[in-house]
Amino acid sequence: MSSVQRIYLDHNATTPLDPRVLDAMLPYLRESFGNPSSLHWFGQRARAAVEDARGRVASLIGADPAEIVFTASGSESDNMALRGAFAKAREARRRVVVTAVEHHAVLHCAKALAEEGGSVEIARVGEDGRLDLDDLRVKLEDSATVASVMLANNETGVLQPVAEAARLAHERGALVHCDAVQAGGKAPLDVRALDVDLLTLSAHKLYGPKGIGCLYVRRGTPLAPLVRGGAQERNRRAGTENVAGIVGFGVAASLAREGLVAETERVGVLRDRLEERLLAVPGARRNGGLGRLANTANVSFDGVDAEALVIALDLEGVAASTGAACAAGGVEPSHVLKAMGFPPERVQSSLRLSLGRGTTQEEVDRAADVIGVVVGRQRAQRT
Ligand SMILES: Cc1ncc(COP(=O)(O)O)c(C=O)c1O
Repeated sequence: MSSVQRIYLDHNATTPLDPRVLDAMLPYLRESFGNPSSLHWFGQRARAAVEDARGRVASLIGADPAEIVFTASGSESDNMALRGAFAKAREARRRVVVTAVEHHAVLHCAKALAEEGGSVEIARVGEDGRLDLDDLRVKLEDSATVASVMLANNETGVLQPVAEAARLAHERGALVHCDAVQAGGKAPLDVRALDVDLLTLSAHKLYGPKGIGCLYVRRGTPLAPLVRGGAQERNRRAGTENVAGIVGFGVAASLAREGLVAETERVGVLRDRLEERLLAVPGARRNGGLGRLANTANVSFDGVDAEALVIALDLEGVAASTGAACAAGGVEPSHVLKAMGFPPERVQSSLRLSLGRGTTQEEVDRAADVIGVVVGRQRAQRT
């Protein structure tokens, strides 16, 4: 057994399950195992739990419960939003506009739609990682089906001007999808204020279980189902519901809502403390503007290979991330940092640190010390 005290600074990848969420889920994995579609007592118990959770998730984002469709992940919800809107669009409108910094669940789906007879336009971001609204306006033209603009970026935490983007898209007759997976539980969320038609959440980013997400579908939005079969989720998503997962998502959403203000403030202080110490390391630079999630720091260290850095940090007990996606045969450089116009050396030397509910000041200070030492060691090894 290793005696390393581990520090988890990768909450944007996933969060630990809150024990209160687990407690709420367990009965639905044991005695309350009914199928919500069944008419008998067992089924109706499960149905009641699913509907209670639907209300809780809806409350987190200011939606009506009937506008929530449970899915198996944020990725599924993103695909459902784009494909579902695309399938209902007239041929002349089969264009999808996405920002250059979207998650691959949006980007790869949009590119697949382009190969299937549509077209995709990628809207630029500035060096601060924020969407260029003028470019979005141009890319929208008058014939887009849907514009997809994320609320908070998973690598930099940068917040996007979703409400402004929605106004532009609606003026041109396009639907608006917002991937709010990273913002869920970390920033206030109100679908009416954002004026979006579709919005994605995923439970495992907010101390809920993995394998459960949802898509908010504004009442009246034309959307074809992605998964066909039974009549679950009001005919919008077939498949027997993941009852325990949905219950966990519901409780996680309630807890996130209750703790949002205090936790955002607490974690923001810790993130700023960590970042300040990291930026004091010579050759360190912050990636992304200041309008961002309170929990995320993305810093490049000149002359350091981030992949090697993450591995070395792991050996010292600090779990961080490069922000880049693992691809077959290696790590692909971050499309997000590339889109912000950074040269390859800066992209390859970027470290993402994402704090969470369990993060303490002691951990942040120790992580900053360890990162400073490991960066120095790696630079010394290169010379
Ligand atoms: C912004 C964003 N969108 C979508 C996803 C995908 O969510 P899931 O892991 O539930 O498929 C992620 C996960 O990292 C994400 O960060």
